[in-house]
Amino acid sequence: MEKIQGNMKSCLQPMPKILVSCRDTEGKNNALAVAYCCNCSYDPPMIMIGIVPSRYSYKIVKETGVFVVNIVTKEQKEMFDYLGSHSGREEDKFSKLNIKVEEGIKVNAPLLSDCPINIECKVVDSIVTGSHEMFVGKIEYVHTDRKIVDDKGNIDFLKIELL
Ligand SMILES: Cc1cc2nc3c(=O)[nH]c(=O)nc-3n(C[C@H](O)[C@H](O)[C@H](O)COP(=O)(O)O)c2cc1C
Repeated sequence: MEKIQGNMKSCLQPMPKILVSCRDTEGKNNALAVAYCCNCSYDPPMIMIGIVPSRYSYKIVKETGVFVVNIVTKEQKEMFDYLGSHSGREEDKFSKLNIKVEEGIKVNAPLLSDCPINIECKVVDSIVTGSHEMFVGKIEYVHTDRKIVDDKGNIDFLKIELL
């Protein structure tokens, strides 16, 4: 194998495809597609999401300090693509797509009902890394489709067709 210099942007793949949902201070729900997302602490359980400051959701997460990570399946590709290419600043994406929601138990933010896993998080820290601000979210509650968990709550990811 001969190695040559590659493009440094987005050289780490695969990237996750998740939807981050949030609610602004006036009660409007919003969500965006996020690829910059990873585990960052096992104990306490924490995950990190990266949001570009120009996103409408950025201001919401900054102000409210909470967000929900929703794991997306192949069936939800259309919703994912729309939420990742239109801004809530210009429209109410939830009404437009008729997105079904449930209330968070620990945070004031919507869960996307049709996603098999919804992870409620509270922001405990953030780091401006460059183009993105990485929000460290302490996991407060994980909602899982009953069909994909065992009696200890362990999730069988083979039962989900991830996007
Ligand atoms: C596959 C994919 C991955 C994306 N990843 C991110 C990301 O990690 N961070 C980010 O800020 N925007 C990301 N975006 C762009 C936002 O989802 C997009 O700009 C969205 O329209 C912002 O919505 P909002 O203005 O309502 O918050 C991604 C888009 C796509 C399609």
